[in-house]
Amino acid sequence: MTQNYRITLLPGDGIGPEIMSVAVDVLNVVGKRFDLSFEFSTALIGGAAIDETGEPLPAVTLDMCRNSDAVLLAAIGGYKWDSLPSNLRPEAGLLGLRAGLQLFANLRPAKIIPQLIDASTLKREVVEGVDIMVVRELTGGIYFGKPKGIFTTESGEKRGVNTMVYSESEIERIGRVAFETARKRGGKLCSVDKANVLEVSQLWRDRITQLSAEYTDVELSHLYVDNAAMQLVRAPKQFDTIVTGNLFGDILSDAAAMLTGSIGMLPSASLGADSPGVYEPVHGSAPDIAGLDQANPLAQVLSAAMMLRYALNQPEAAELIENSVLQVLQQNYRTGDIMSPGMKLVGCRAMGEALVEILLLKSN
Ligand code: IPM
Ligand code: MG
Repeated sequence: MTQNYRITLLPGDGIGPEIMSVAVDVLNVVGKRFDLSFEFSTALIGGAAIDETGEPLPAVTLDMCRNSDAVLLAAIGGYKWDSLPSNLRPEAGLLGLRAGLQLFANLRPAKIIPQLIDASTLKREVVEGVDIMVVRELTGGIYFGKPKGIFTTESGEKRGVNTMVYSESEIERIGRVAFETARKRGGKLCSVDKANVLEVSQLWRDRITQLSAEYTDVELSHLYVDNAAMQLVRAPKQFDTIVTGNLFGDILSDAAAMLTGSIGMLPSASLGADSPGVYEPVHGSAPDIAGLDQANPLAQVLSAAMMLRYALNQPEAAELIENSVLQVLQQNYRTGDIMSPGMKLVGCRAMGEALVEILLLKSN
């Protein structure tokens, strides 16, 4: 029997539409093979939504996302909208989506792909075998804490304010996701904070430590964020699962991504308690190469695979996509961001076509 899924597509800005179109082609091929039918609806977010409607997250977009089985997002943002006030920037659309769907847990895997080891800026022996999962809290911390804003003092000076705040319940629910994630992986969890300076981090560390009593099979450690950043580039193989707050997770997940050679390869999942999850590449909208057919669509394709696995419970379909991505790399196809000598340089569309060809062969 054919399974039907309603998927909301949010192509967004920059390279978003190009990489999304590759992911949709891939999903359609895989759908035929596994008897899945996808009902895609496309909605506006980010700069594209600002241009069209004046706001970065139109209500219809959020509604459409709420009423779907999963959301596939590409990327938002670009120079064009950089001078707008923060509540009207494309980023506000993404933050609004996270808040609106209560996507408090962001899973960002950084796993080295053997075929791409030489694309890493770090030495082979440092990165070979790296397999890290960053669990980033996504709807709290300094991104959402109040007060926030730019205020003018009595003396006429301007003050910019943001507030880093976590309540126990917020720490606990992300902590549980992290312990459970670690349990299914290497059984090691490193919690990252700044408890030597910040009270919010002291509470974070206390709650995570308390929680560990319920997960005695998981080995818990703690690092300050500055040390964690250093350890990530010094000896990344010591990490299995990392749990941290919104801001630290934003920063560390970019660093972790780069261990693998290119941020252009990495998918992510943002999950809530009872709303559809959002699946998106870790990378941004790359406005400098938008429309030039140079983008790497593989993180978007792997995000679609993650969606199949986590949201739609179709692990075999996910695996088929993941294996095809490895195979396209094995056949030496490379976009510019992962190019190395002797490989075949292709654009976004050609990479997609090569992938579809492999999928079709595997599907017969
Ligand atoms: C990310 C991005 C976003 C963030 C921006 C675009 C708002 O950097 O998803 O990591 O800071 O969370
Ligand atoms: Mg980021």
